[in-house]
Amino acid sequence: MATVLYPGSFDPLHLGHIDVIEQSVALFGKVIVGVMHNPTKPSGMFDLEQRKDMIKASISYLPSVKVMAFEGLAVDAVKQVKAAFIVKGLRTGGDFEVEQQMAHTNHAVSGVRTVYLPCKPALVSISSRFIREIAQYGGDVTSLVPAPVAAELAKLFPSTSLTSKRQHLDTN
Ligand code: PNS
Repeated sequence: MATVLYPGSFDPLHLGHIDVIEQSVALFGKVIVGVMHNPTKPSGMFDLEQRKDMIKASISYLPSVKVMAFEGLAVDAVKQVKAAFIVKGLRTGGDFEVEQQMAHTNHAVSGVRTVYLPCKPALVSISSRFIREIAQYGGDVTSLVPAPVAAELAKLFPSTSLTSKRQHLDTN
């Protein structure tokens, strides 16, 4: 049994993230989901506390998972929670390029190692960026996110989400 840190921006959490969390629990035991800023991404749709609350609500069936928000570096978060290593999910070759650079750099500056987990093939196309775009333009993202996240997005974009659902019901 090891404690591992799964850091990410999770803006918002989606089913691909849940897959990585479930795999990490099965393989390593205790998982800390670290909600962090990604300095390369624009300021978020949800703040860190909102993202943390949505993740907590979505993974409450996994008692060995703790959700925490961190400011600063992922490697400092690893030390703070005494994690053995970082876990990251890989969807595509593009993810690998980015993750490999981060993993090498994190190891060079701190000695912390990173382990990659492949996402389920059915989930490799899901991205938080597309979820934000679809939700903002009134699309239905309920097949891509857990129910607590869908509920928060519907609160944020009430008229558009309802319109989309109504249209779907009307035409099917
Ligand atoms: O879900 P994301 O956006 O791919 O997660 C990226 C994240 C938040 C894990 C990454 O940006 C990060 O580690 N941020 C904390 C700052 C840090 O440690 N930077 C050094 C990277 S080598």
